[in-house]
Amino acid sequence: MTEGVASRVAAVRVIAAVVGRGQTLEAALLAARPSPADRAMVQSLAFGALRFGHRLTRVATALVSRSWESQTAELRALILIGLYQLEYSGTPPHAAVSTTVAAARLVGEQKAAGMVNACLRRYQRERAHLLDVADETLAGRTSHPIWLVDAYQRDWPSQAVPMLVAANEHPPLTLRVNVMRTSVAALAAELAADGHVTQPVPGAPEALILERPLDVRLLPAFIEGRCSVQDAAAQCAVPLLAARSGMRVLDACAAPGGKTSHLLETTPGLAEVVALDIDAGRLNRIRDNLTRLGLEATMRVGDATDPTLMSGQRFDRILVDAPCSGTGVIRRHPDIKWLRRPGDVQALADRQLALLVALWPLLSPGGRLVYATCSVLKAENRQVIRAFFRKFPDAVDVTESASLVLGAISHTGPVDGPGTALLPGMNGMDGFYYACLERRDD
Ligand SMILES: C[S@@+](CC[C@H](N)C(=O)[O-])C[C@H]1O[C@@H](n2cnc3c(N)ncnc32)[C@H](O)[C@@H]1O
Repeated sequence: MTEGVASRVAAVRVIAAVVGRGQTLEAALLAARPSPADRAMVQSLAFGALRFGHRLTRVATALVSRSWESQTAELRALILIGLYQLEYSGTPPHAAVSTTVAAARLVGEQKAAGMVNACLRRYQRERAHLLDVADETLAGRTSHPIWLVDAYQRDWPSQAVPMLVAANEHPPLTLRVNVMRTSVAALAAELAADGHVTQPVPGAPEALILERPLDVRLLPAFIEGRCSVQDAAAQCAVPLLAARSGMRVLDACAAPGGKTSHLLETTPGLAEVVALDIDAGRLNRIRDNLTRLGLEATMRVGDATDPTLMSGQRFDRILVDAPCSGTGVIRRHPDIKWLRRPGDVQALADRQLALLVALWPLLSPGGRLVYATCSVLKAENRQVIRAFFRKFPDAVDVTESASLVLGAISHTGPVDGPGTALLPGMNGMDGFYYACLERRDD
């Protein structure tokens, strides 16, 4: 096979699975099983074509004669990957066109190979005009679905544009140092000795950003449990929880265990940490992570909205890292732009409120519950917390004082409360929302 064609074939299959069949990018990449030599290229093409695919779809719509939606998923994927290479990847234009046309023949689109060739060549001739048209709207310019642009503008009118731009950036690879096994300075020195430059993150004391991303599974420090991968925004949950020695803690939506393990690494002497998740398969990932890091928790499979599940138990701290739209982590998961639908948001908000309603009675008087999402939509965040307050008059929002621990990390604060949001683009971090709620003990 001509050089570079195998990676285009695999990338087309991945994009077609996401765009045409609604699979997640993670699942589609796993199913594509590219050869080790092709893996990096397939990932780069797939992430890039999804990241910029809404802008490129506007271009493609002008290039094809029949309606874009009536084309097969493979043909749409071929054209998106061809355009992505021409516009963004730095691939020499002749290679971008020839490898994409060759891939067309190998993914069952041999009859359309001529059309793919014609579209990509026309793009090269008419690029400026085609991009001008695609860029007429904010949704086109920032390559997002219209409903999401509308939601950002409604929720965050003055921050919407930087948020949309930040969602297209390459995310940093941020490590969380396992301070039970090493120190941040020692890990930075260990990595530097192997040629890996790192930067600390102000406000996130266990975080280190690797300047040049790599496959962490190859790092001895990762294999031997001296670090994990976790964005600095997600590393804010545990300081906000403010658990102390002797406390019982419930992590109610725990898999794959990022925050459970951060808690155990930084808080010695806890009486018990219960890691609960509804998904037994994902609970195994907590087990693997805890074993790698040398940590222990009580593992439970179950639905946290089931009021009988933990009946009779009380916790001093509860973390509800709720399932959400993921709109704060689009830079890491560009498939979210393609897979989420506007109607998902209210359904998620209903589940989020149900989790809070079921878990609040398990909190000891005087205890603290932290509600977290990696969404930036107010419907999943402060509106859920407002609805929760209407049901539980014994709940107090203590986010403003609790968030003093975040120090240098910027967040929206009480004007947009209850709770506080870290918006994409604010700190170079993922978007997150946190609400710290305490139960009055009178
Ligand atoms: C955002 S993820 C949690 C990430 C995790 N806290 C971490 O830091 O690694 C949300 C998790 O909630 C779980 N989940 C969803 N609904 C649930 C429910 N009703 N009860 C318990 N877990 C649930 C999902 O299976 C998923 O693993």
